[in-house]
Amino acid sequence: MEGAGGAAIRPRKMDVEALLGTLVKEHGVMRGAIGRAKDAAARGDLHAVSAELRGIDPLFRQHVADEEAQILGLLVGELGRERAAEAIRIFQQHRPIYQLMLKVRELASRPSEGLRESEAELAELFELHARAEESAVFPRAASLGAARRPS
Ligand SMILES: [Fe+2]
Ligand SMILES: [Fe+2]
Repeated sequence: MEGAGGAAIRPRKMDVEALLGTLVKEHGVMRGAIGRAKDAAARGDLHAVSAELRGIDPLFRQHVADEEAQILGLLVGELGRERAAEAIRIFQQHRPIYQLMLKVRELASRPSEGLRESEAELAELFELHARAEESAVFPRAASLGAARRPS
């Protein structure tokens, strides 16, 4: 996934603990926008669906860039690919979720079939993904980050 205009997104410079706190907060921000987009889709407000999803597009791409570069980098670096397999699998959901987000925006650009269903699917996939990260990926990254910190 690339930044606007194809430029690579730079990972934010933060220590692991601060980054994890930021990522969890951002799940809340994105969950809120996707939830409002779902309500908007249910009442047929296409403009609001587009606006909500367009509004979180840069955040989503920055968030994923940090997860893949920094969190996955830490897990794979410390544990190896085999023991980081679950995180790798969970992070492989980024692209399909982003593709679905683009599809919902496309569907919301004019009256069309399937907007509600696709937006509901997006909300569900995002929720499962965020929960999997918070329960199975971030705690491992937190303990590796803490172990690495000089005390
Ligand atoms: Fe993610
Ligand atoms: Fe995330």
